[in-house]
Amino acid sequence: MLLFDFENLEDKKKEYEKLRQDIEKYNHYYYNLDESLITDQEYDMLLKKLEQMEKDFPDFKLDNSPTEILGGKSSEKFKKVKHKNPMLSLSNTYSMNDLRAFDLRIKKDTGENVEYILELKLDGLSISLIYEKGKLVKAVTRGDGSIGEDVTENVSQIFSIPKVLKKEIDLEVRGEIVLPLKEFERINLEREENGETVFANPRNAAAGTIRQLDNTIVKDRNLDCYLYNLVNPEKYGVSTHLESIDFIEKLGFKTTKVFTKCNFIDDLEKEIEFWDKNRKNLEYETDGLVIKVNEYKWYNILGFTSKSPKWAIAYKFKAEQKETKVLDVSFQVGRTGVITPVAELEPVNISGSVVRRASLHNMDEIERLGLKIGDTVLIEKAAEIIPQVVKTIFEKRDGSEKNIEYIKKCPSCNSDVIKEEGQVAIKCKNLNCQEKLKRKIEYFVSRDALNIQGLGNKIVEKFVDLKLIKSVTDIFSLKDYREELMSLDKMGQKSVDNLLNNIENSKNISFEKFFYSLGIEFVGKTTSKLVVKHFKTIDKIIDSSHEELMSIEGVGEKVASSIYNYFKDTENILLINEFKNIGINLEYISDEIVNNDFITNKKFLATGKFTNLKREEVKELIEKNGGIYLSSVSKNLDYLIVGEKAGSKLEKANKLGVKILTEEEFLKLKG
Ligand code: IVH
Repeated sequence: MLLFDFENLEDKKKEYEKLRQDIEKYNHYYYNLDESLITDQEYDMLLKKLEQMEKDFPDFKLDNSPTEILGGKSSEKFKKVKHKNPMLSLSNTYSMNDLRAFDLRIKKDTGENVEYILELKLDGLSISLIYEKGKLVKAVTRGDGSIGEDVTENVSQIFSIPKVLKKEIDLEVRGEIVLPLKEFERINLEREENGETVFANPRNAAAGTIRQLDNTIVKDRNLDCYLYNLVNPEKYGVSTHLESIDFIEKLGFKTTKVFTKCNFIDDLEKEIEFWDKNRKNLEYETDGLVIKVNEYKWYNILGFTSKSPKWAIAYKFKAEQKETKVLDVSFQVGRTGVITPVAELEPVNISGSVVRRASLHNMDEIERLGLKIGDTVLIEKAAEIIPQVVKTIFEKRDGSEKNIEYIKKCPSCNSDVIKEEGQVAIKCKNLNCQEKLKRKIEYFVSRDALNIQGLGNKIVEKFVDLKLIKSVTDIFSLKDYREELMSLDKMGQKSVDNLLNNIENSKNISFEKFFYSLGIEFVGKTTSKLVVKHFKTIDKIIDSSHEELMSIEGVGEKVASSIYNYFKDTENILLINEFKNIGINLEYISDEIVNNDFITNKKFLATGKFTNLKREEVKELIEKNGGIYLSSVSKNLDYLIVGEKAGSKLEKANKLGVKILTEEEFLKLKG
């Protein structure tokens, strides 16, 4: 009997060790590699199980158990920063009963009917922002709660984070960096097109973006940040959580605006029900609600555990998952030729809409899922919008399932497909592939590119099928087929004229948008702007060397090689020549008007030879700051900026009493 117990204990110890190691592995992936190997719910269950085992067998527990410490360790990439106040986590639950227990405990410990604030639990990356005299000086990730990473440079690229506050005060405020759902969708589409792995959810995408070493990528991804926690609120004379939210909003911080006062547990229950239904309408992902005691006077009395405060709890929503069958797997050809496998599903209703298809991303993913046609699978919506196959339910197999064949030919043009080394994607390399052309055109006319309204996907499909468009440049010849267009279904005279007008107007689109529309691999909106701003004209880009491309701040090896190789391809040079003939704007015109009191609305002219800047750059700087650059000296001129060997212009300006600035004075005044 004793022997049996001993063996049982050994088994339990092994089970405990295995569980601990698994959780440590999941932590490492989640916090350091921005990847979730299991769902949040599965993770929480494992952690609860570990906690229970530590209660049942206290001897098993070591000092650094995952139940005691937060999972993340700061990585080597960024400077480490010690948090002055630890960044804690929240205890969480999926059950209303636990919430009731929380409420009872609070009531018991305080002896009062305390007020709660219910707010949204954002699913992103927690961040601590430190301001000195009202200026943002540091942004630090949570890391392990006591040491985080200095990600100030990347965080400074987030538009909604104020760099300067409305008051010159010192403060630390915490919140969540999130990737809006629309951006998440856009980025994943782009990544799929480029044959890169897609982000599983907006949280991983936000965390991965903030850990990028290249901050132009951060700018391109339009991250957002919502604040929910003022550190050391007593310093600012606020005595409740609601007051501190009001205080930070007034300083210029963005909050979710959802802070609902609840006096009773029944109020909480109603709110939870409401948000579980309505969270899908938000612009960002929420994975639950946070319930916090409102009055700070209770915080010390209620206290903390090693990981989380006892005055707050998170209620997490269960991700809705449904089982359905994979009826078939089809293959979709993208703009760059990447071929994506797609699961055709038995229609199933999840989180309010019918799901019929789910991207399987690539063949590696099919292998990871062990998927066959006919399999029953578990489906959920990533970020409540994008259907994805979570896992295959092998127990439901009946033997009739069929293997998914690796395709060898492009499903559209039947040419051989290839898998490039180091890439997960398979590609169709045929330049004349019709599907590829359709996707290319859809991209070319999309909002961030030429922005041609009236050329939606359905119309593009039709025009390509009817051979009205055989290449991207054919869009500009559609005007020769006005009659044919009008005879098409649903294309009245007005819509045809509007479309043709929009096409004509798109020739004047900014050069950076045109450059982006070429769809060069890794060239997003920000990179496109950096490149065109540096070179100014398409010819200079075509003639640029790899070194010069690399010399642009924000352009790395991958981007430089991609641009360089694109213009080494004669097909692409021919394409650019066609665009030139069509009359598309291929020159950069600065459009960044930044208000600068010294420059805005003043008239300038530069003359002579400059040492720090080229004369062209002086002009650009003035225009960028809202100033006017004149071509000759007159009494209207506010300032003449003079370099070395200034001649007749300086003489004339002196005669007319125009103020003179040296290059250094101008640079100093410009600030
Ligand atoms: S308060 C000491 N409020 O959830 C309490 N956290 O699981 C600090 N989170 O690390 C957190 N929305 O990254 C708080 N409204 C919210 C939140 C929130 C999301 C995150 C935060 C925290 C994690 C805990």
